Amino acid sequence: MEFTKKILCIGAGYVGGPTMSVIAAKCPQYKVTVVDINAARIDAWNSDNLPIYEPGLLDVVKEARGRNLFFSTEIDAAIDEAEIIFVSVNTPTKDFGEGAGKAANLQYWEATARNIAKVARSTKIIIEKSTLPVRTAEAMCRILNSNSKGIRFEVLSNPEFLAEGTAIEDLNNPDRVLIGAPQTPEGLTAQNEVVEIYANWVPKERIVTSNVWSTELSKLVANAFLAQRISSINSISALCEKTEADITEVSHNIGMDSRIGNRFLVSSVGFGGSCFKKDILNLVYICETYGLTEVAKYWESVVEMNEYQKRRFVQTMLHAMFNTIAGKRIALFGFAFKADTGDTREAPAIDIAKQLLDEHANVVITDPKALDNARIDLEEYGDKFEFIDDPYEAAKGAHAIAVMTEWKEYKSLDYKKILASMEHPSFIFDGRNILDHKALFELGFNVFPLGQPSLKHY
Ligand code: UDX
Ligand code: ADP
Repeated sequence: MEFTKKILCIGAGYVGGPTMSVIAAKCPQYKVTVVDINAARIDAWNSDNLPIYEPGLLDVVKEARGRNLFFSTEIDAAIDEAEIIFVSVNTPTKDFGEGAGKAANLQYWEATARNIAKVARSTKIIIEKSTLPVRTAEAMCRILNSNSKGIRFEVLSNPEFLAEGTAIEDLNNPDRVLIGAPQTPEGLTAQNEVVEIYANWVPKERIVTSNVWSTELSKLVANAFLAQRISSINSISALCEKTEADITEVSHNIGMDSRIGNRFLVSSVGFGGSCFKKDILNLVYICETYGLTEVAKYWESVVEMNEYQKRRFVQTMLHAMFNTIAGKRIALFGFAFKADTGDTREAPAIDIAKQLLDEHANVVITDPKALDNARIDLEEYGDKFEFIDDPYEAAKGAHAIAVMTEWKEYKSLDYKKILASMEHPSFIFDGRNILDHKALFELGFNVFPLGQPSLKHY
């Protein structure tokens, strides 16, 4: 079959892999290739054991793989062949030099742009899919278009809004797709080409076109607003714990105001994930760069509140357990940054585990999908942490359980059996408010929910 478009994605990660799989499944008339420098990752994409856990992803991959979806390490050949190239390589926060701890590390992006410029023999549309700081497209455009071959590249921004755990649903039915392009005749032609891809399944009114800068900034601001809601409700959870108010009731009550809305108001041990902190710090860095100190401080406080929430959680544990947890076994239920993913990037459990270790606790970690990543995250600590698949085994001999991730399986465990295997008095700290606190208390646990009164037997 003759494909009507040849699309390439560079970077087969959490964004590139699922996004391209859905495009390929929805558009059998296009050839979609996904490449990565990591051969093990590509091998995994070509197997039934995909490199990332995402509900529904394997079915989508299986539908298209080998038909019009291909995973490969042949990067140069794929660049040469493609008409449209999505770039979805990682952009971690810089950990060195100017902007360290805030600015995005663009080395992978720039290496990719230079490689495209080197290998390409024809005009191509380049699309930023990774989250990049505002105006990156402009810099990339310069790098790409300073080739001596007379080839013209249009650089567009098409940020990804999928959330892990619901990626397939989000891609199938997005609230909106943003496509930013230079407002030139060539830029607008390229923009139409990209609109055409999504129009295969997304209603036209949800495909929003604008200039590149507005699109890039919108992605950072969307994540900053979402994270701000979580930090706001988490700040109130601290107040609820000091008073008679219950955070779940407050969330519900304010969420009924249609101007506020009811989503992203679930108080938690803290937000994690690869985007929120990174994007806010990026926003902060950009504001600082333009001398907007107050604006930078305002957004930075969203991250500070998140750090405070994690510290506060550990302090609650310490104080509840008679001000010492040294030598006490503590089971962390969940390590992923949210349920339905094996991803642990910026997971609150990482900081909590380290802070508990600082207090000399014996921390044992269990998670249905994220234990491999947890081992990598805590590699430098050698055998100081224990990793156990079975939550019942993890809780055996523990003084406390702390729920870090809202996995639904934790709701239906046999807590009577668990209590019998633990040290007494036994504690549960529910960092996600997913358990039946009253029932646990009646079984004999001392229960510490978030933003609600604790239930103690002493
Ligand atoms: C986020 C954005 O939602 C998505 O649009 C963007 O493309 C990438 O970043 P993701 O990080 O995958 O997606 O997950 P999300 O569902 O947004 O959750 C982020 C964190 O916030 C998780 O740790 C989650 O547990 C936490 N959270 C979310 C809360 O603590 N309370 C809430 O009410 C919602
Ligand atoms: P995201 O969540 O943004 O998708 P990931 O870290 O999951 O981030 O994925 C980024 C992918 O990009 C990784 O698989 C990494 O190997 C790949 N990558 C990084 N640099 C390059 C490059 N120059 N060429 C091809 N792939 C790259």
